[in-house]
Amino acid sequence: MTTTERPGPESEQLRSLIAAELERTRARTAQLTDAVDDDDLMRQHSTLMSPLVWDLAHVGNQEELWLVRDVGGREPVRRDIDDLYDAFKQPRKDRPALPLLPPAAARAYVRTVRDKVYDLLDGIRFADRRLVEDGFAFGMVVQHEQQHDETMLATHQLRAGAPVLDAPPPPEPRLRVGGEVLVPAGPFTMGTSTDPWALDNERPAHTVELPAYVIDAAPVANGQYRAFIADGGYDEPRWWSEAGWRHRVEAELSAPMHWRRDGDGWAYRRFGRWSRVRDDEPVVHVCFYEAQAYAAWAGGRLPTEAEWEKAARWDPATGRSRRYPWGDEDPTAEHANLGQRHLWPAPVGAYPAGASPLGVHQLIGDVWEWTSTSFRGHPGFVAFPYREYSEVFFGDDYRVLRGGSFGTDRSACRGTFRNWDYPIRRQIFSGFRCARDARPEEADT
Ligand SMILES: [Fe+2]
Repeated sequence: MTTTERPGPESEQLRSLIAAELERTRARTAQLTDAVDDDDLMRQHSTLMSPLVWDLAHVGNQEELWLVRDVGGREPVRRDIDDLYDAFKQPRKDRPALPLLPPAAARAYVRTVRDKVYDLLDGIRFADRRLVEDGFAFGMVVQHEQQHDETMLATHQLRAGAPVLDAPPPPEPRLRVGGEVLVPAGPFTMGTSTDPWALDNERPAHTVELPAYVIDAAPVANGQYRAFIADGGYDEPRWWSEAGWRHRVEAELSAPMHWRRDGDGWAYRRFGRWSRVRDDEPVVHVCFYEAQAYAAWAGGRLPTEAEWEKAARWDPATGRSRRYPWGDEDPTAEHANLGQRHLWPAPVGAYPAGASPLGVHQLIGDVWEWTSTSFRGHPGFVAFPYREYSEVFFGDDYRVLRGGSFGTDRSACRGTFRNWDYPIRRQIFSGFRCARDARPEEADT
């Protein structure tokens, strides 16, 4: 981290990078909220989600709190609405009944806030306070808005009615990818202390020692998952954990969310359109318990979070952990299916350029991957800049998901990025891959 600002081209570069990221992110938000009419924006499409117009003004409110008031030291734009858009004070199910800003007022509000942010960005020194070093507070706000853009995309997926979103299909497979990859025993560096926009829960970098293990070269695909269903996987308690089976019975789970029987096969609904399930795409919209049951049925288990991260970042040639599986450079369209460029996961083998040195594919993008690990701070964790970002969620209630999905923006996804959710959730773009302990004869090779 820089401790003093070097005036000149470096901070000018950072300033224009921040401006570009803010603008790119807002364009995405606009696309998601302009796609539907005012009624639709105000409506709650699922009790799991907020009305889209809540997300919109909440994004602006967080930007006002952190950038306009805290970083900029400016007068509040709308102090009177802080409580309405406080995610901790207002449970999602109650949000539609709140006196929310109607769409036109919400749009005007976020524009006013953004204008003030551009204004203060012009004169800011990226120094003096840790909050602004390397533009961290701006990066946090960009990532927060991008996270809500993914949440809004999930709301669109739950929304009934005519389709309103469109995007080209993801690329076709360029390589045959399958089977498992052996990750040799030994230490690796997990987390980061240097990535400037990494959030508190990704820090600090620390060494983790792992025994040899084996991990799938690709996320579990629909064809494999269909075999689990056809084999009676949903009716066989022995594949499920106790809590998982209880939930499976209560929620009457029988297939991934948004699937229905279609003749002798299956169809899924994606953003209002039904199509036949494609076997070589990673399965999406499964909860942790379903992932866990599949893994047991397949003779394995879910990877721990550390196993996922070592497979994604560890470079055997140098012993170093990379920012991404392919190296340190930011993701491009060649590396990964990110940023809502496409509206569903790409078939397995579509991103050979994104593979890790050990040959593990599609770790970044496509689908969030469930791990078996509960959400906790890395050793040496310090909450920053506020406990509510991650610390209040630590504990056994949440499982960690890694890698981002097709709905995740590159600014909100790194090899160290951590997401978490309840094990029953599946409205998110969640899939998984399997792992297992290495057998002694494998571990020795
Ligand atoms: Fe939020």
